[in-house]
Amino acid sequence: MPVHARAHVYQMSPYRPGKTPEQLMTELGLSELIKLSANENPLGASPRAMEAIVQHLNIIHRYPDGNCTVLRDALSEFHALPPDHFAFGNGSDELIHLFGIAYLEPSDELMMAHPSFVRYEASAQLNQATLKKIPLTPDLRHDLPAMANAITERTKLVYIANPNNPTGTIVFRSELEHFLERVPDHVLVILDEAYYEYVEHPDYPSGLDYVRSGRNVAVLRTFSKAYGLAGLRVGYAVARPEVLDPIERVREPFNVNTLAQVAAAAALDDTEHLERTRAFNRVGLEYLQSACERLGLRTIPSQANFLLIEVGCQCARLQQRLLQRGVLVRTGEAFGMPTYLRVNTGSPEQNERFIEALQDALRE
Ligand SMILES: Cc1ncc(COP(=O)(O)O)c(C=O)c1O
Repeated sequence: MPVHARAHVYQMSPYRPGKTPEQLMTELGLSELIKLSANENPLGASPRAMEAIVQHLNIIHRYPDGNCTVLRDALSEFHALPPDHFAFGNGSDELIHLFGIAYLEPSDELMMAHPSFVRYEASAQLNQATLKKIPLTPDLRHDLPAMANAITERTKLVYIANPNNPTGTIVFRSELEHFLERVPDHVLVILDEAYYEYVEHPDYPSGLDYVRSGRNVAVLRTFSKAYGLAGLRVGYAVARPEVLDPIERVREPFNVNTLAQVAAAAALDDTEHLERTRAFNRVGLEYLQSACERLGLRTIPSQANFLLIEVGCQCARLQQRLLQRGVLVRTGEAFGMPTYLRVNTGSPEQNERFIEALQDALRE
C-alpha cells in the first residue's frame, strides 16, 4: 500500500521541466540550438559576478551566511532602504512559495490576473486557498478596476506581475495608485517586478515607492533576468519588516547559497553590464517587432525582454518546426493562449536566425 500524501497535493500538477538544450540537440541531431524560451540574458552573467564566484570557491565547504549580509547591505544601499526591508529566496519563485505558506489559510483567496505567471497558482493550490483569476483586458493588460471589484473579505494576497509574464505589458503609475486606494487593509499586494530593469516607459511605477510610503505592498525582484544569474537562483522581496517577519519564520535557514550571494552582490555593482543588457534588449525588441510586422504577425507591445507573437495557428506544431531549425521558443498553450508564441530577445544574430526560422516554419 502506498503511503498517501495530503489529498490536495494530488490535484497539483508537477512542474514539468523542459528538456535541456543539450538533450534537445542530441535528440534532434542539431549542432547548435538557440534558446529563446526562458527570458534569460543572452549576454550571460556579468564578468564581475563570475570573478566573485571564482574568488569564493575556497569557502564552499562552509554553510552560507543565512542572513545574506553582504547582499542585504549592498541592496540596502542601492535602494536606499533599511537592511530589514529585504528577504531572500532561492529565486523569486521561492519567495512566491514562502508568501503562500506564510500567509494563506484554506479560507483565504489569492487573486491574480489571467494569463499571468503560473507559479502564483501553485501557491494557492498548495495552501488550499481559493484561486481567483481575473482576465486581462482585450489589449492583454491587467484589469485593475475588475481586480479591485473582485476583492472580498477573504482576499489575502493579490499578485500583479509588472511587467506581466507572458504578455510583457505593464500597469501604469496612475492605474496602480487608483487600485491601491481601493485595496482594504487585510490585503497584501505583491508586485512581482522580475523584469523591472528592462522597462523604459515613463509611466512605469516602481513598487518600492509604495513600500516606502507604508502601504501593504511587497515587491519581488530577481537576479535571474537582467542580471543574468538564473542558474544560481537568487531573488528578493522588499517590504516593511512586519510583512517579511512571517517569511523569516518559514524559510529554510540557508536558502540562498554562498556563490549566489557573492555573485548577486557583484552583479549589482556592474552597471556597465546592466546597461549593455538593456541596450541589447531595446535593439532586439525593435527588430523582432518590425520583423514580425513584415511577416504580417501581430505582436503585443512589450516592456520586458520577451515578445508575445500571435501566429494565427496552433503553436505547438510551429514550435516543433522551429526546434528542427535550431530555435527553442515558448508556446502559449501553458498559459491558455495556444495561438501565441513567446520569444525572448537574443543577440542580433540569434534574433535574425529566429525570424528566418519562423518565416520558413510558417511556410511549411
Ligand atoms: C513574473 C515572474 N516572476 C518570477 C519569476 C521567477 O524568477 P526566478 O525564480 O528565477 O527569480 C519569473 C520567471 O520567469 C517571472 O517571469
